[in-house]
Amino acid sequence: MSQKQIGVIVGSLRKGSFTGMMAHALQELSPPSLKISNIEIGAMPHYNQDLETDSPPASWTQFRKQVLASNGILFITPEYNRGVPGVLKNAVDVGSRPWGKSVWAGKPGAVISMSPGALGGIAANHHLRQTLVGVGLATMAHPEAYLPAVGGMFDESGKLKSAETREFITAFMRAFEAWINKNG
Ligand code: FNR
Repeated sequence: MSQKQIGVIVGSLRKGSFTGMMAHALQELSPPSLKISNIEIGAMPHYNQDLETDSPPASWTQFRKQVLASNGILFITPEYNRGVPGVLKNAVDVGSRPWGKSVWAGKPGAVISMSPGALGGIAANHHLRQTLVGVGLATMAHPEAYLPAVGGMFDESGKLKSAETREFITAFMRAFEAWINKNG
């Protein structure tokens, strides 16, 4: 069976990040047809159109190539002040340029938001979706994933503790697999 390449973009740079732990947990909970790999965004300079020359920053070029080589993109994001962390917005901006060469157009994608609070990062999730509409990503509408109370969600080995959450993520990734097969 040929695997589909899924690029996972995590909106936190923090060691021990809950969103990073979820990216790790997906390795176990995704269908075998999906190959899950993280795409790093932390080293990319802030988007500055002046750097968009014949030799843009190497980290931008590498990022763009990794997204283009992916059959689908999964964003896992925390919420910062009712929006998307700047580092993640920067990555979306870098991928959207130069004009006419966006790496996002038509690419199947999905969003998971997470928070230690009760609202599961719903504002960041929809903030990100708004931007993804603008760049033409084919974002899966349903199921939606707003995960609250992430502070107690993982054990010391980084494994999801709750069977219910594991089932939810497994079903979410199966739906994403179907979405990629339909829109890829
Ligand atoms: C937060 N946090 C937060 N949480 C939330 O639910 N809504 C919010 O608007 C914010 N705002 C916010 C701003 C800033 C600058 C920080 C640093 C944090 C808390 C946030 O959800 C928490 O720190 C998460 O643990 C961050 O995700 P990672 O790093 O664990 O993946």
